[in-house]
Amino acid sequence: MTYARILVFAGSTRSGSLSTKLAAAAAKELALADAEVTRISLSDYPLPIYDGDLEKEAGIPENANKLARLIAAHHGVFIATPEYNNSVPPLLKNTIDWISRVESTGTSAYRNRIFAIGSSSNGPIGGARALPDLRKIVQAGLGAILIPEKIEVGRAREAFTESGELAAEPVAKLLRRLCRQLVDVSSRLVN
Ligand SMILES: Cc1cc2nc3c(=O)[nH]c(=O)nc-3n(C[C@H](O)[C@H](O)[C@H](O)COP(=O)(O)O)c2cc1C
Repeated sequence: MTYARILVFAGSTRSGSLSTKLAAAAAKELALADAEVTRISLSDYPLPIYDGDLEKEAGIPENANKLARLIAAHHGVFIATPEYNNSVPPLLKNTIDWISRVESTGTSAYRNRIFAIGSSSNGPIGGARALPDLRKIVQAGLGAILIPEKIEVGRAREAFTESGELAAEPVAKLLRRLCRQLVDVSSRLVN
């Protein structure tokens, strides 16, 4: 049997990052839903701030090519993002901007993957305002097909148990459902 391969990462590399905790919880749920999960940290794929002159002189950084190849090698992607000033953090936007430039070299195999997105914040609405922007950016930049459902984890500093699960049943159930949907839809790409 071939399993859906799902790539998971967070839009923060901070130690103790809340979105990294959400990414870890999602990775567990995805594995429980029988996906083959790859969890990465963007700290392993550092990229300069996008600059057109830099691209012209040095080309696309190898880390952007590597990330594009990683997405292409998976059927689905889960991104957990923080909210910065009502939107996505620069790390995530810059990473997606660079990957979207890989297309300019003629390879765009990372497109048409199934994406699910979530946010976390210690505020009451869990970084919800970042998600419409993230949705637009991954659709435009990565040709993503998005699961309509999403998850926002509010009061996130207290939301996770010591073993990394979401403590409150309603939000834990929401993550379970979202991860199952991601696996179900991604499985349709498995041949
Ligand atoms: C520049 C900046 C802007 C922020 N703006 C928001 C915001 O608009 N809404 C919010 O809920 N939290 C905001 N925060 C708080 C972050 O969501 C919080 O620090 C979060 O824990 C960061 O994600 P991480 O834990 O995954 O690193 C902001 C933090 C920074 C550094």
